[in-house]
Amino acid sequence: MCGIIGILGNQDVSGRLLDGLRRLEYRGYDSAGICTIHDDQLDRRRAEGKLDNLARKLDGEPLPGIIGIAHTRWATHGAPTQDNAHPHATGEVALVHNGIIENFKPLRDELIAKGRTFTSQTDTEVVAHLISADVEAGMEPVEAVRTNLKRLHGAFALAILFRQHPDLLIGARLGSPLVVGYGENETYLGSDALALAPLTQKIAYLDEGDWVVITRAGTQIYDKDDQPVERPIVNSGVSSLTIDKGNHRHFMLKEIYEQPIVVAQTLKSYVRRLDDQVSLPTPDFDLSAIRRVTIVACGTSYYAGMVAKYWFEQFARVPVDIDVASEFRYRQPVMEDGGLALFISQSGETADTLAALRHARSEGQKIAVVVNVPTSTMAREADLLLPTHAGPEIGVASTKAFTCQLAVLAALAANLARAKGRLDPREEKEVVRHLSEAPAAINGALAYDEAIEAMAHLIAPARDVLYLGRGTDYPLALEGALKLKEISYIHAEGYAAGEMKHGPIALIDENVPVIVIAPSGPLFDKTVSNMQEVQARGGKVVLISDYDGIQAAGDGCMATITMPKVHPLIAPIVYAIPVQLLAYHVAVLKGTDVDQPRNLAKSVTVE
Ligand code: F6R
Repeated sequence: MCGIIGILGNQDVSGRLLDGLRRLEYRGYDSAGICTIHDDQLDRRRAEGKLDNLARKLDGEPLPGIIGIAHTRWATHGAPTQDNAHPHATGEVALVHNGIIENFKPLRDELIAKGRTFTSQTDTEVVAHLISADVEAGMEPVEAVRTNLKRLHGAFALAILFRQHPDLLIGARLGSPLVVGYGENETYLGSDALALAPLTQKIAYLDEGDWVVITRAGTQIYDKDDQPVERPIVNSGVSSLTIDKGNHRHFMLKEIYEQPIVVAQTLKSYVRRLDDQVSLPTPDFDLSAIRRVTIVACGTSYYAGMVAKYWFEQFARVPVDIDVASEFRYRQPVMEDGGLALFISQSGETADTLAALRHARSEGQKIAVVVNVPTSTMAREADLLLPTHAGPEIGVASTKAFTCQLAVLAALAANLARAKGRLDPREEKEVVRHLSEAPAAINGALAYDEAIEAMAHLIAPARDVLYLGRGTDYPLALEGALKLKEISYIHAEGYAAGEMKHGPIALIDENVPVIVIAPSGPLFDKTVSNMQEVQARGGKVVLISDYDGIQAAGDGCMATITMPKVHPLIAPIVYAIPVQLLAYHVAVLKGTDVDQPRNLAKSVTVE
């Protein structure tokens, strides 16, 4: 993963590089580093851990220079130490890298056999040595980069400096994103437009295999066959304002509280209250001809996809396959020509999902993308782009993007159902009415924040926690468990409530809290039966339901959380709130780093 930025500037760059890294920290925060050229030398500052450590180092030892590169790391090869922090450098070449060099071992062996010495355990350092070896042998930097890019297998976005060429910055991308930014007598490289937003809005997105030579005389992009190409310069439209936490203690809490507004904002693009119709962008293919949908995503976005499977099958009667992206491509899935493949992603950059998207396209699928970052690679590669309007999500644990994804997916399910002749105008009106109730119902759910905070201490001491749900509440159980484990570091699992008796029930004792998500409705009684099986074995249950549900089954529970009564269609959107708040408050009690939990990154750009 990792985030990279480079500046060929006309004034000192290290402060601006650091600022760019702050905007890229969502891509990893294991270590960070900056390299500039001054006094004919490559000079680096690197620090283990969060960016503040690097900032402190720069305060103590400022780094002059009007050209520089910088990196924030999510460790793949080698521990998150200072030695493994980028930029990696020889005496002649320094570079930063996002991605994985899969053939680094043979390359490293070859370079060691030639007498080169490595100072890190990273895959990246081989690239610095490969290019440096050729430069030291007299090859021009541009030629050395061109030749050696061909030797790299895997994924990379690179920004490269050369000690003897203080007016030269070279970038390259394959599999990992890289943009070129055009400023006033300055040129930039960045993992995304967000990193460059305070510097420029004029952005060119590099294509797969592109590489770029930036000098004071101008910028030249080459394609994968080394032919000079032009890439359109567009206005990124990305705000340069720094996003803050407002009055909230963490970004995650702020984002949880934004949900009534952002879900309403998202719905506004997909439902028309005027005539109570769902209204999606018209695809350039015939929705009514779609016979099968393949949904692919990762993590929380995958759980949104699982909810959508229930909806697509129930409303549109279209069969749905769903896969986590990391499995999809490698299991040789069978897809009918002309099928619809639907990709769901907050970032639009998740490497596994992106690779799956490209695979589906190569198999003749129409590509629909539900994505939160409108400038992302997935957004740009979609046939049918369905943006969520959640706004920037900074907390690593996804919250508002999830509920906005559900809002879009519900509208898509209704649209598909209408196209298939499975939803008459009266039913469509009902769907629109229920969806439109979601923002107020989310507000109603947020009103229980204090009650949830007060009961978080019941969960915080647990070593293991189980979440149970049926129907669309089953993916929510999985999502609840994911939220809890990623931010509180408590082991948690989600199960389909009916599946408990096939094994997991053996885990039940008085030390394992069981969170049961059971809005009153058609599946309520069945879920409650499963809950009672847990209670009969001494299990301590937290029941999340509405007033009727709590009245009917709340007795004997360790705690209950009362939700507003909502239609089953929007229950997964509304019940996401207590699940998020519970994980949040438990994490706060445990004193973890809620917004940047250990070992994680917001955008997972390696396979
Ligand atoms: C969990 C979480 C992750 C992401 C996953 C996919 O809170 O945030 O599981 O959902 O990494 O990321 P996107 O949606 O950006 O493709």
